[in-house]
Amino acid sequence: MRCTPFSFLPLALLFLLLLALPVEMVKNSDFKTCNESRFCRLHREFATNSTKTPPKVPRYSLNPATIDFTDSKFVANILDSQTNQELSLSLSFLNHGIVRFRIQETDQNSGRYQGPGNYVLKDGENGLQKIDSKNFKIEVNTSPEGTKTHLISFYQNSLGEQMQLAITESPWTISLLQNNKTTIEVNTRGLFNFEHINKKQEVSSSQEQTSESSESGSTVAQKPSFEEKFKNWVDSVPKGPQSFGIDINFPGSSNLYGIPEHASPLSLKVTRDDKEGYSEPYRLYNLDVFEYLNDSPMALYGSVPFLISHSLENTVGLFWMNPSETWVDVSKTQSPALLNLFNKYVSGSTSGNKMSSHWISESGVLDAFLIPGPTSKDVFLQYSSLVGTTSLPREFSLGYHQCRWNYLDQADVLEVNDKFESNKIPYDVIWLDIEHTDGKRYYTWDNKKFPDPVAMQEKLAKHGRKLVNVVDPHIKVDQDFRVSKEASEKGYFIKRNNGEDYKGWCWPGDSNWIDYFNPEASKWISDQYSFENYNNTTPALFVWNDMNEPAVFNGPEITMEKDIVHFGGIEHRDVHNLYGMLVQKATAEGLINREPVRKRPFVLSRSYFAGTQRYGPVWTGDNTADWEHLKTSVSMVLSNCLAGINFNGADVGGFFGNPNPELLTRWYQLGIWYPFFRAHSHIDTKRREPWLLGEPYMTYIRDAIQTRYRLLPYWYTLFYENTLTGMPIVRPMWVEFPKQSGLFDMYEQFMVGPALMVTPVLSEGEAVTQRIYFRSQESYHDLFSDYQLPGPETHDTMTMLGSQSVFVVGGHIIPTKERPRRSSQLMKHDPYTLTIYTSMHGSSKGSLYIDDGETLDYEKGAFIYREFNYTGATLTSKDGAPSSVDSPAKKKFIESIKHIRVERIVVRGMMNSFKRAIINENGKERSVEVTCTKEKRGVCTIRDPAVLITEDWSIRLSFD
Ligand code: NOJ
Repeated sequence: MRCTPFSFLPLALLFLLLLALPVEMVKNSDFKTCNESRFCRLHREFATNSTKTPPKVPRYSLNPATIDFTDSKFVANILDSQTNQELSLSLSFLNHGIVRFRIQETDQNSGRYQGPGNYVLKDGENGLQKIDSKNFKIEVNTSPEGTKTHLISFYQNSLGEQMQLAITESPWTISLLQNNKTTIEVNTRGLFNFEHINKKQEVSSSQEQTSESSESGSTVAQKPSFEEKFKNWVDSVPKGPQSFGIDINFPGSSNLYGIPEHASPLSLKVTRDDKEGYSEPYRLYNLDVFEYLNDSPMALYGSVPFLISHSLENTVGLFWMNPSETWVDVSKTQSPALLNLFNKYVSGSTSGNKMSSHWISESGVLDAFLIPGPTSKDVFLQYSSLVGTTSLPREFSLGYHQCRWNYLDQADVLEVNDKFESNKIPYDVIWLDIEHTDGKRYYTWDNKKFPDPVAMQEKLAKHGRKLVNVVDPHIKVDQDFRVSKEASEKGYFIKRNNGEDYKGWCWPGDSNWIDYFNPEASKWISDQYSFENYNNTTPALFVWNDMNEPAVFNGPEITMEKDIVHFGGIEHRDVHNLYGMLVQKATAEGLINREPVRKRPFVLSRSYFAGTQRYGPVWTGDNTADWEHLKTSVSMVLSNCLAGINFNGADVGGFFGNPNPELLTRWYQLGIWYPFFRAHSHIDTKRREPWLLGEPYMTYIRDAIQTRYRLLPYWYTLFYENTLTGMPIVRPMWVEFPKQSGLFDMYEQFMVGPALMVTPVLSEGEAVTQRIYFRSQESYHDLFSDYQLPGPETHDTMTMLGSQSVFVVGGHIIPTKERPRRSSQLMKHDPYTLTIYTSMHGSSKGSLYIDDGETLDYEKGAFIYREFNYTGATLTSKDGAPSSVDSPAKKKFIESIKHIRVERIVVRGMMNSFKRAIINENGKERSVEVTCTKEKRGVCTIRDPAVLITEDWSIRLSFD
């Protein structure tokens, strides 16, 4: 479905060729393999050669004369013995014990892009907080062979263990030790290799000689120019090669996770190994991949260079702050038992296993952060202290989104809306894809199809519903189109080197792209979302930024040429993976500022990078309606969450193809557990709104969507808690059960927050046998019935199409709203139900966050955060806000919700039968009736205790 330049004859030839070739090859051939990417190939060759024949003398070592340690910074020059050139290494020690290291030419004016810190780090480069080096202890040790190690003791981790950084001079390596155990190692495999910018030289692919091999057709830099070819594309590489690679290793580690986005299993596979894993490295390069393949390390729409290592011993991470094309090889070393013993003696690690990563980036500075953990909670807090947490979303956006390419016209939209009403299916948002515009001129409407967009939005808004319009970043070249004309006149488009506006093809045909690196241009495009500029929009309209990798149909790998230069002289090569995030950021800013009272934006983006979580949700792009994609969506969503991109989901139902009713039902049952819950489909697919499936499917789907709505208070609270802790909202089992190695690879079962354990049906069958792992010694309560069972146990269960397996881990209290409504906004003033799922020991904890769901007043304290505790048959509600600000905004907000009460309290897993509940509010007591079921571990219900959600109170269950 993309614009193609072919005339009929070549098209026919192409068609014949397509028939002759296996489909996968055709899809893959648009995109580079590592071998076709010059720098990737050479660093990989270098790795192969140095592993096979380790050099006798290390090529790179620290120049002792340049070593200095002042102001929490260790600096040294790295001497390249082959070229006699020096590089500068700097190490800084940051809050939480994070260690940052940067490597580049000694001359910082070399022309190398100095890094995206001010875009990516939540408080910019100047916001990073260093640890005070007053208390650091430094020792220098010399080994019998004469190698010097600088050992810096600098921090105590969350377990009170001493953290040390060991820096060896020759070969130069860095090791992070905690409690005398090495947790992260840098360059211990000796794969560091660095190309000096603006120098006509080649990455050495072997120890001795320069590689020239290029079977793939890519050029090598032995020519006078640095040109590199891919298919018919020539990249002029104006500054010459400037790539670098290095190994980062995790001793004792068994599993690596993260580095989304890839359609691959949660626990990363080894690369360079066809049999056990992939032959290609994981690639990070934002691309529009048509019909992407399952189980592949190929690049997709987003890139987050954040890796997590987890083992029974610890959890640590690595953040590689580089938005240029990057490849990551993953390998595993399993030591024989004897070596394990030796390792234990030498490094303190109880296992000789090691997971290794080899990072290869095309340009920019080598800039990495060692995230020390040592628990997963620490890792998420530490990483989010750098790049930020998920911004609190608009409350409505946690509801259900109905999308399709395309709802045809205004009548169609309103009819779909009516059908949701008549079929009593809640939903919050309906979406319009590219066909709603006047000839793919975004910020406009096709007036024939949408004669009165304002009336349409108002009709939707009557029941609290919203509209989302797609606004892609390519702007149709058309002097009669105001946006195009103004941007071109103001010089806001990305330019070619000859000063002309950069032009490429996308949906509208010839298009230009705004240069978001120009702050003025970015502000101007933000302003296009004002009600004055974006005609016929109302506060009920929100935005979807698609194709922002950016997708350029006639560009190399369907994207922009790397040698295009942005505002400020930044080469596209250096910042490619950032572009999409800047598009979303500008849109979000536009939406925040379009009303007199600043409101939270809602902007869905396809492309993303580290930090995107501050601007809005993402989705996993153009998946396919088959069982494999259903399954992979779980890993993809979990990987995004691990990498801080919490607000994300996959197209429910699958974008390409037509799911049968069974698959679609199962997809809804899974989709309600994605943080972002939207159904979407390709223009060529059959319509599939839930009622079109008929019964019993529609009822099953309605049930699933209603479950999502009941639990919205829990979801919203999880989003708030993420802003405090960085904890993933939907999380792999190992995050909750870090000491259960059997769960480290698992994604078929996952957690929504700390309380809900979901085991979706991922395979075909009206009745599917599912194996469910109840891993802790705890009670597990079925979310949908009174059934419960004690763990630890592995349980095989039959899940019929109309049901699903979701268990609440004992010890949690879940707030819900049980009254079925048309949209989340209509639930706003509904009373709450609190369900106490007792633990083995009879106690439970929970929380609830409430704010106005739309403004930024929560920043001024206008919210409540309640903590619920159930112990000794008494439930208490108290203020749990981290800091209490008594602002006018807070008072006003509390006033607006002070009538909202708790209408029901349910206690599950009761050993006793109670008769009454004694309610204590402000010292005054009253009692209400309690009804309990008869069986052992039954359910007691307090109907309408009439306590207020904003107040402190306690409720004691009593036998008489
Ligand atoms: C590609 C997107 O991934 C898809 O969701 C959308 O429907 C089409 N572009 C058309 O806008």
